[in-house]
Amino acid sequence: MLELNDEAIAELRKIDQFDFDIFKLRRATRDNELVTIVPYVLARHGLIGACAIELNCLFNFVKTLQSGYKNITYHNKTHAADVCQTFNYFATNGGIKDVTKMDNMETMSCLIAASMHDYEHPGVNNMFLVNISDSMAVKYNDRSVLENHHIAASFSVMYSDPQCNWTRKMSRDEFKRVRHMIIETVLTTDMTKHFLELGLLSSRLENENFNPADSKDKELLIKIMFHLSDISNPVKDWRLCKLWTELLFVEFFAQGDMEKMHGLEVSQLCCRTTTNVAKTQIGFIDFIITPSFNTAIRVFPKIAHVRDNCEKNKEHWAGLFDEYQKEQDSGNKFLHIVDQYIMKETKASRRSTLTQGEKKSKQPQQRNVNLTGHQRRTSKNLGGQDEGVKVDLVLRMEDSESSQR
Ligand code: CMP
Ligand code: MG
Ligand code: ZN
Repeated sequence: MLELNDEAIAELRKIDQFDFDIFKLRRATRDNELVTIVPYVLARHGLIGACAIELNCLFNFVKTLQSGYKNITYHNKTHAADVCQTFNYFATNGGIKDVTKMDNMETMSCLIAASMHDYEHPGVNNMFLVNISDSMAVKYNDRSVLENHHIAASFSVMYSDPQCNWTRKMSRDEFKRVRHMIIETVLTTDMTKHFLELGLLSSRLENENFNPADSKDKELLIKIMFHLSDISNPVKDWRLCKLWTELLFVEFFAQGDMEKMHGLEVSQLCCRTTTNVAKTQIGFIDFIITPSFNTAIRVFPKIAHVRDNCEKNKEHWAGLFDEYQKEQDSGNKFLHIVDQYIMKETKASRRSTLTQGEKKSKQPQQRNVNLTGHQRRTSKNLGGQDEGVKVDLVLRMEDSESSQR
């Protein structure tokens, strides 16, 4: 059972939309955005029953992942939840499901893969781990070190505790497919694979045999769209785009500080005294985002609208060169982010550590949400599309109570 308040329910109603705000869900669920969104999105699309998922085990699994994400500014549980929602948008309204004929197992695998995709991220990149001969780099022979870790550590959660093994009702073959899909999608989030995968897609698009519903082309498309969900912050609404970018650079600059401390060469984008964040974003959009989304739009024309956001965001960044120059000149401390965002969130999570009794008395608006898929329908459910929506709000008691008040 999830306890959701009206604010969370209102945001979850927008789960298939591009302007979903994961930060709102984070606040509304008092820092339980990942363990809320994953079961919810699967249930909404009827994937719990269709894929024989053990729901309680899925809750336990995602809860464990959620607490394994570190309290860092970007590679945290909120980003994982954001990738899950963004991929869900691309899969539904973005047209991936229609065009590639992605089946239930594939869709479910990608949505769960999103929750695993940066698990236990330490806030520094692969190059840093390789340069300091971190045990993770040694273990994975310097290759896609973090991505290998995110996958292996997430599967270990599942294997080490039967109560977290949401796949246990699946057949051997089903499990093999799920595991393959998760490994492939998460490995593709390594940015060093970006041009390779995109090049493969571009050449496939020139080939007359290209068939997005054919298994090989389909897998390539799904992997690329998963990767694009991971780097989608520059195509989101300006407020979200700017917030995610600044949160990312808080992490980048902290890595740069550590590199200076270790006497290592400072990685690209990580030096707080020489980086103008606004300028980096123009570069990132021009070299990474625009070409890759343009290629994706050839296959999925329904996502063509992201070009507008992207252009607008570029204009915003271009208009902020001077402002970010001032940030750079004062060492890119992003105090406004630290003050306004991190402190606020800390207060929110302090609230979430209230005792159960305190919680009950302070949160009169909460509703229970039942995700098991076998319950009666109520007049008030979360989805617009009733088909396959297995989430029923157990609102009757609260509704009748509030109408009597
Ligand atoms: P990660 O989420 O692990 O995988 C994709 C990477 O792309 C991400 O980490 C960042 O390192 C990088 N990235 C994502 N968004 C941006 C951005 N706006 N500017 C620069 N780098 C980015
Ligand atoms: Mg990653
Ligand atoms: Zn990521």
